[in-house]
Amino acid sequence: MKNAFLRWWGCGAFDVILGDTNFAFDPYLFGQNLEQIEPCYDYIFVSHEHFDHCHPKTLQKLCQGERFKTLFVSPGCINPTLPIDERYGDAAFARDLPVTKYVSPEKVEVLYPKYLQDDGQWYRKFPGPFELNLGSLHVETIESGENQTPDLPTCGYLVTHREKNISFLHIGDLHQSYPALQELRGKVDFFIHMKLGLTEWQGSNLTDRLVEIVDLVRPKYFIPTHYRTDRIADPIPEGHWPPNVTDTCAFIESIREAIGQQTQILPFTAGVEYEVTMPDKKILWKWNWQNSWTVPPWGEG
Ligand SMILES: [Fe+2]
Repeated sequence: MKNAFLRWWGCGAFDVILGDTNFAFDPYLFGQNLEQIEPCYDYIFVSHEHFDHCHPKTLQKLCQGERFKTLFVSPGCINPTLPIDERYGDAAFARDLPVTKYVSPEKVEVLYPKYLQDDGQWYRKFPGPFELNLGSLHVETIESGENQTPDLPTCGYLVTHREKNISFLHIGDLHQSYPALQELRGKVDFFIHMKLGLTEWQGSNLTDRLVEIVDLVRPKYFIPTHYRTDRIADPIPEGHWPPNVTDTCAFIESIREAIGQQTQILPFTAGVEYEVTMPDKKILWKWNWQNSWTVPPWGEG
C-alpha cells in the first residue's frame, strides 16, 4: 500500500493506516462504529486514564486478533491515583481501571515521557522506556497534560515510520507548551491537536499557548481534533464531552489566523477517512459524487 489513510474518530481518537503498520491513538468508539470495527491495528497508544482516551469497550474489541501486538499506555492506566472515583470524578472510573482488567496484561506496556514539562526542576526520574523501535516505527514520548501528577505523568506520542518518512504527533490532552517540545522541531509532519485552539477555557485564553506550541514544534500539518460540532454525522454523542464549537469553519479560521502560514491546517471532519498521497504527503480532498436522491426533487410533478 503506497498511500496513507488517516481518520479522526471523534474526541481524541485518531488512527493511521499505513498498510504494513497500522496504529491508533486514544481509540474511543461507540454505537455503530464500535460494532462495525474489526481489529486492524498493530499498536495502540493511550495518552492517559480518562474515559474518553482509555476506553475499555473499544480497547477490548481492538486489542486482539493476529495483527495486534501491544497497547502502550501512560502509567496511570495501570496504577491510577486512588481512590479512583474520588480522585478523577467523572473523568475516570473504578469500573474501568486499571486497563488490564479488560486487556490481557501481556499485551500492555507502560511508557514514560521522555520530554518533560518541568524542564528538570522537579528532579523526577522515571524508569522508562521513553523511546521504542517497533519494526519500521520509531516512537518517542512527551509529557502530556490533564490532571497528571508529578509522579504519574501522562504521555503524548511521536510516531515515525522511517522508511515511509512520515510522522505523527498526538499530544493527548496537553493544555500548555513547554520548552522541551522544541526537541521535536523538524520531526513532525502531522500534529494531532487537542484543546489549545479554544479561545477560553476555565478562565484562561488558550490561543497564546496554541501559538507557542506550534512555534516550538513547527509541524508541517496541524489537525484540530477533540471538539464536537452540531452535525448529526459526528461520531461523538450528544450530552458528552467535548463541548460543541458553534461554528466549525470559524473555529478553524481562528486557529489559522493565530498560527500563521508556516504550518498548514487540515480541517478534518470526524468519522471521515482521508487519503494522504505518498511520498509528497498531500491530502487527497475528494468530491463525493453520490446522488442524495433517487428522483431529483426538481424533476417531480
Ligand atoms: Fe480528553
